[in-house]
Amino acid sequence: MTLLDGKTLSQTIKNEIAAEVAKRTAAGQRPPHLAAVLIGDDPASQAYVRNKVRSCEQVGFQSTLIRRGADISQKELMDIVIELNANPDIHGFIVQLPLPAHLNENEVLLAISPEKDVDGFHPMNVGLMALGMPRYLPATPYGILQMLERYEIPTEGKNCLIIGRSNIVGTPLSLLLSRKGYPGNCTVTLAHSRTQNLPELARQADILIAAIGQPKKITADMVKEGAVVIDVGINRVEDPSAQRGYRLVGDVDFENVAPKCSYITPVPGGVGPMTVTSLLLNTLQAAQNTTTRPNAT
Ligand code: GUN
Repeated sequence: MTLLDGKTLSQTIKNEIAAEVAKRTAAGQRPPHLAAVLIGDDPASQAYVRNKVRSCEQVGFQSTLIRRGADISQKELMDIVIELNANPDIHGFIVQLPLPAHLNENEVLLAISPEKDVDGFHPMNVGLMALGMPRYLPATPYGILQMLERYEIPTEGKNCLIIGRSNIVGTPLSLLLSRKGYPGNCTVTLAHSRTQNLPELARQADILIAAIGQPKKITADMVKEGAVVIDVGINRVEDPSAQRGYRLVGDVDFENVAPKCSYITPVPGGVGPMTVTSLLLNTLQAAQNTTTRPNAT
């Protein structure tokens, strides 16, 4: 069994990004600049955004955090998006999800300029991805593709079961892994909460990707011997012995599943760090695309 070490791999990629930033600045160009909009005080969202800002600093990007209270109006949030679209200092930006219930998430995502949509959530970018003309791939699927690629894991002709059909993980990943090319050419099954016989389907999977959001749902009896298991889950479970009162566990019962796998991601330290790195790669690309236009740095 080989551990898919997202922590180390993401550091390798961050070093590569930092080298690209150094090249840009040596050529007299501004470093890439990412802005993040964080609404409300959801602890997980705060932690994710903090991590994104810290990662920007590590690779020499500029970053701007825009924080507003959960009582912000739709109009005020839309005005922030419109301002960021027009701001030539910002190469790319994200609006952290989920938004408080009174806000219209779709309207916000539609308003983000597709050129600055480094999350890859705008329908234009989703469409480009679906048709094999990707601009910005969504961060979690992109991180998983990089992991498969850098570990040189064969994907062609493999049975791939993705569990979870969210717009930001399962659905885009099902498109990307069934596409021609590498990583891809899988026979993809997209399972979800209404799927019947999940354990049976899971046992047929050469590559099993769990994005369910329920701790330890994938148990050893559901996994084929020699499977590649990718765990997207980041679940907080109470743990009085932990410093923060909780610990993070994945969707996979790692301890019992790992011995059956050829490759498996740990949680934490697997997919999570790769996701942040993907956002940095998209932001670097946004900056480089901007720079190739006349009179832009
Ligand atoms: N919430 C959970 N994952 C993400 C992500 O990748 N981007 C944004 N904007 N919000 C998220």
